[in-house]
Amino acid sequence: MVKKSKPVEVIDLDNLPKPGYAVLKLTDFSTAALDNAVRDLLSALEQESVAVASENDWKVFRDRWMARKNGVLKQINDLWLKAAPKEFRRDVGQKVNELNSRVAEVVESRRVKGIQRSLVETFQFHDSVSAQVIPASVDVTLPGIRRPLGAEHPVIKTMNEIISVFRNLGYSVEEGPEVETDYYNFEALNFPPNHPARDTQDTLFIVGQESKPLRDRLLLRTHTSPVQIRTMEKMKPPVRVVCPGKVHRNDAPDATHSPIFHQVEGLAVDSNITFCDLKGTLDHAMKALFGSSVKTRFYPSFFPFTEPSADVQISCIFCGGKGTRDGGPCRNCKASGWIELLGCGMVDPNVYGFVDYDPAKVSGFAFGMGVERIAILKYGVDDIQLFFNGDMRFLEQFG
Ligand code: DAH
Repeated sequence: MVKKSKPVEVIDLDNLPKPGYAVLKLTDFSTAALDNAVRDLLSALEQESVAVASENDWKVFRDRWMARKNGVLKQINDLWLKAAPKEFRRDVGQKVNELNSRVAEVVESRRVKGIQRSLVETFQFHDSVSAQVIPASVDVTLPGIRRPLGAEHPVIKTMNEIISVFRNLGYSVEEGPEVETDYYNFEALNFPPNHPARDTQDTLFIVGQESKPLRDRLLLRTHTSPVQIRTMEKMKPPVRVVCPGKVHRNDAPDATHSPIFHQVEGLAVDSNITFCDLKGTLDHAMKALFGSSVKTRFYPSFFPFTEPSADVQISCIFCGGKGTRDGGPCRNCKASGWIELLGCGMVDPNVYGFVDYDPAKVSGFAFGMGVERIAILKYGVDDIQLFFNGDMRFLEQFG
C-alpha cells in the first residue's frame, strides 16, 4: 500500500504577520497622553507575546523588545524619556522604568513557553509522542544521569573470600578497634614490656600517652591479634572466630610495603584442639583460596602468643612448586618452590592466663594472614601501592 504523504506546509514569507506596533514620537507629555501611549504599548506587548510559538519566535520577540540597539525599550528611552521637557522628566522616567520591568517580565515568562512549544512540535512532527506527555518543566532533550556500576575493591573482595572459607567451617566474625591499648596489642599477647619481640612490630604510637600506665597507652594496632584477647574476654570456649581488619605499621611504602594494610586473624579454642587440627584447617583454607593442587608446609617460627609457632608456606602457584619457570629460576618463589604466606601456632598457655581460661582444660590454635599479600598472589599484582592509590584502570579490572 502506498503511504499517503502528509501535505507539505508552504510558508509564505511575504505574508508572515508583521509586528504592527511602532513607537510613536511623543509631542504631548501630559499624564493623559502618556497613559494612552503606555496603554497602546502594553497591548502590543501582550498581542505579540501570545503569538510566541517556538524557541525561535521567542528570540525574535525578545530582540524586538529588548535589543540594546533598536529594541522597543531603547526607542521609548530615546523618543519618550530623552525627548521629554524638563518638567515632565520625572513622570516619564517613572513610566519608562515601569515599562522596562514589565517588558522584561513578559519576555521571561514566554521563554519556557517558547521552548516547550517547540518541543511539542518536534514530537508531533516525529509523530511518535503526543504533546501531552511532556510535563511542564522537564527538558527531555537533556542527557540522563549516568550511574556507573561500582566494583568491590580487590582487598575487600579477598577479605570476604577468606572470611567465607572460614564461615563455611563454622567460624563467626569478630572485630576490634584500630586504636588499641598497649595491653591488648602487646601485653596480653605475651609481649612483656621491653621484650625485643615488640621491635618486630614497627609500632605507630599515639602522642601524649606518657602520663598513663604503660598498659593503657594508645597506639595504632599493628596486627589483628588483639581481637583474640577481646573475644576470649567476652566468650567462653568453644571459640571459633575470624577477625578481619585494618592494621598500621611504621613502614615506608614501596612495592611490597604499606603503612596501612589488612589482616584476617583466626582463633579456635576448645577442649582437645591439637596441632593436627591447625594443619588440617589451614591446609583446607589454602586449597579453598588457591586451588586444590596447592600443598602446604609448616615451618618453625616464633610468635610470643603461640607455642609452638609456625610459618605456613604454600607450594608456589606460579611454577607449580618446581622452582623453575620458562627455563629459568622462578622469580616468585626465588626458585624454592615455596611461598611464605601466614603465621600460626598453638595458643601459648600464658595467653589463657590473661583471659581467665584454664590452660589445663582448653587448648587452641591461632593464625594471622595479610590480605594484600594473598590478593597480590591470587591476582598477580606486582605492586601493593596499586591497592591504595585509587587508579580506576586498576580497580575496574575487579568489576
Ligand atoms: N599477628 C602476627 C603478625 O602480625 C601474625 C600472627 C602470627 C597471628 C601467628 C597469629 C598467629 O594469630 O598465631 O605478625
